[in-house]
Amino acid sequence: MDMNLNIGVIKGDGIGAEIVAEAMKVLDRTAEIYGHTCDYTQLLLGGASIDAHGVPLTDETVEKAKKCSAVLMGSIGGDAKVSPWYKLEPSKRPEAGLLGIRKALNLFANLRPAILYDELKGACPLKEEITEGGFDLMIMRELTGGLYFGERKTVEENGVMTAYDSLTYNENEIRRIAVRAFDIAMKRGKKVTSVDKANVLDSSRLWRKVVEEVAKDYPEVVLEHMLVDNCAMQLVKDPKQFDVVLTENMFGDILSDEASMVTGSIGMLASASLNETKFGLYEPSGGSAPDIAGKGIANPIATILSAAMMLRFSFDLDKEADAIEEAVARVLREGYRTIDIMSEGKTQIGTEKMGDMIASYIV
Ligand code: IPM
Ligand code: MG
Repeated sequence: MDMNLNIGVIKGDGIGAEIVAEAMKVLDRTAEIYGHTCDYTQLLLGGASIDAHGVPLTDETVEKAKKCSAVLMGSIGGDAKVSPWYKLEPSKRPEAGLLGIRKALNLFANLRPAILYDELKGACPLKEEITEGGFDLMIMRELTGGLYFGERKTVEENGVMTAYDSLTYNENEIRRIAVRAFDIAMKRGKKVTSVDKANVLDSSRLWRKVVEEVAKDYPEVVLEHMLVDNCAMQLVKDPKQFDVVLTENMFGDILSDEASMVTGSIGMLASASLNETKFGLYEPSGGSAPDIAGKGIANPIATILSAAMMLRFSFDLDKEADAIEEAVARVLREGYRTIDIMSEGKTQIGTEKMGDMIASYIV
């Protein structure tokens, strides 16, 4: 069935515009071959929105995003040491825009796959005996609760400056992300590792209880609980043990960076932030890399794979998503690399050439 894909596009800051342009190129080519059309709505967020409107997120961006079926994003933020954006108060900085749009669109489920690509094994910092056979895990991070959105304040108490950040979860917030994690585990390796700090935190004890209740509806899925400090260790000791890692917002932020580093190829990793509907915000796992912005060397593959994820989750276009993933695999097999994943004997190419090649391999 031919479809008109109504896609919001946030180029964002740093390398965002370059990598998103390549993903759009691949999307357009895929749409052309499979008989769809893409309608793009450009949206401003982060530093780009500060430059235009003085704030990192406007109601206009939220309203326009809500009218789209999905949003593809590049990256948000600049170099805090030099960018004027970081002279603004925290609630007006680029990152506040990202948090704001997550909350405004209720994107509570953040999927961050960490895959060791066979072709890129050389870039993995772990010993070969640990990664033998590869690994493929999915971090399911709760994205609209916990410390990120709890009450915070900085006050003077008895002459001492004191800062508060509160970590709150209610059972409904835990249940909906747990259900998502189990649903996804059913389509993968049927194992959920729920990560918490239940030996210290009340919020983690409630987390564990609710996750156990949800698990009862999924008898085929093996559930294990793991403390977050142990999980940080296990990710480098034996990443193969994981299938779906379910965790709260802050732990997920930290563990997902660790998991992506362990793959050695953060420029390859896609991510999706979803709400209760088919809507999602799709973005590469890497940051805005202001140091290489505008140089034409950034790796667009994570963004291209995010576009594939978008076709799969928001539009149910599995064949089209497969076609993009296969085109990426072919380019890698043939030895083409951007600088971040370059190794001896391979052919180094830039951002645009990588996008061109992947688009030309869509069948
Ligand atoms: C991420 C980022 C954001 C987060 C920052 C930019 C606010 O690190 O998406 O992981 O902490 O969620
Ligand atoms: Mg992070």
